Amino acid sequence: MKFLVTGGAGFIGANYMHYVVNKYPEDQFVNLDLLTYAGNLESLKDLEGKPNYSFVRGDIADRPFIMDLFEKEKFDVVINFAAESHVDRSVKDPGLFVRSNVLGTTTLMDAAKAVGVKRYHQVSTDEVYGDLPLDRPDLFFTETTPLHTSSPYSSSKAGADLFVMAYHRTFGLPVTISRCSNNYGPYQFPEKLIPLMISRALADEALPVYGTGENVRDWLHVHDHCVAIDLIVRNGRVGEVYNIGGHNERTNLEVVKTILRALDKPESLIHFVTDRPGHDMRYAIDPEKIETELGWVPEYNFDTGIAQTIQWYLDNREWWERIVSGEYQNYFEKMYGERLA
Ligand code: NAD
Ligand code: DAU
Repeated sequence: MKFLVTGGAGFIGANYMHYVVNKYPEDQFVNLDLLTYAGNLESLKDLEGKPNYSFVRGDIADRPFIMDLFEKEKFDVVINFAAESHVDRSVKDPGLFVRSNVLGTTTLMDAAKAVGVKRYHQVSTDEVYGDLPLDRPDLFFTETTPLHTSSPYSSSKAGADLFVMAYHRTFGLPVTISRCSNNYGPYQFPEKLIPLMISRALADEALPVYGTGENVRDWLHVHDHCVAIDLIVRNGRVGEVYNIGGHNERTNLEVVKTILRALDKPESLIHFVTDRPGHDMRYAIDPEKIETELGWVPEYNFDTGIAQTIQWYLDNREWWERIVSGEYQNYFEKMYGERLA
């Protein structure tokens, strides 16, 4: 089978690529990525030269380019990871999120509809459900929780999800959607909470905690997300949404203090800063559907996952130091510049 994986140079897409390219040598995986600031081919060095992996640079919202690619490549399966993914950036530039996350999704689905695919999978997020109150620990997001978004980012993801369901009902496109909680693990861009705090703590820099640090996120190791997506794409029922999460709720302050303890750094590095506008209070996933239907069981809990992740950032300093310095952005030119000239 031939897979188109969009956004494969981002955090979750790169982890997914490592997982599937090695697990399924008989399948072909094409990684399509625009290489925005968040795309980093250095995360995929180990896969370069593998016979079942290739990279194409391009924009999922570029209609003529996408139509040509689908006609030429005849993909069996499309998995759409590509998106603008950072809530804080969406507050600064909502339009970019509409373009990549909504228009990009409909453009991919138009091509999938025109050429025909066996499956279109949309990688979505628990943020489409809005947030839960801190004083109701009994409440969780299920697949039937109404969409109720807070940020331009989550609104663009919810908009895309509605189009995915509409393309299924109106045009019969064979779709699935996954909605996962907060991920962490190797290759995460150091603008998101966990890698930002690890990299800054290692440099003895101030750790900016928004508001009071009481907001709760439900943390899942990226490996467990990748396994879940693979199960949904291969065995999930068409037209269904699957929530993904492992019941690992922590306040932001708990997460930051855990990192400081592991690195033997003082809590005096913590600085409370002005809150994110519209900041969601609590996310919490009920994963019963994917557990019972597809037999998904996470390998990591937060304690084992955060220990593995901190060790990865200690062992791979060069990877994130090149991001902090901006050097990673020259990599594409160095690797592909001559070949594309
Ligand atoms: P990321 O920001 O690390 O990576 C996004 C990738 O998409 C980058 O490589 C970027 O270059 C690429 N991209 C962006 N716009 C593009 C476009 N127009 N055309 C082609 N490529 C483009 O994001 P991530 O954290 O890996 O998230 C991947 C997906 O998973 C997103 O759809 C996100 O909404 C979803 N998600 C993320 C989390 C999380 O905790 N990070 C949790 C649940 C769901
Ligand atoms: O829930 C899934 C979502 O998780 C994904 O859909 C998003 O793509 C992903 O970015 C993530 O969104 P969050 O906004 O929850 O993640 P972020 O790492 O930006 O922030 C996590 C929490 O930490 C949030 O409550 C805000 C807070 N925070 C974040 C940063 C970057 C801080 O307190 N300080 C910071 O500097």
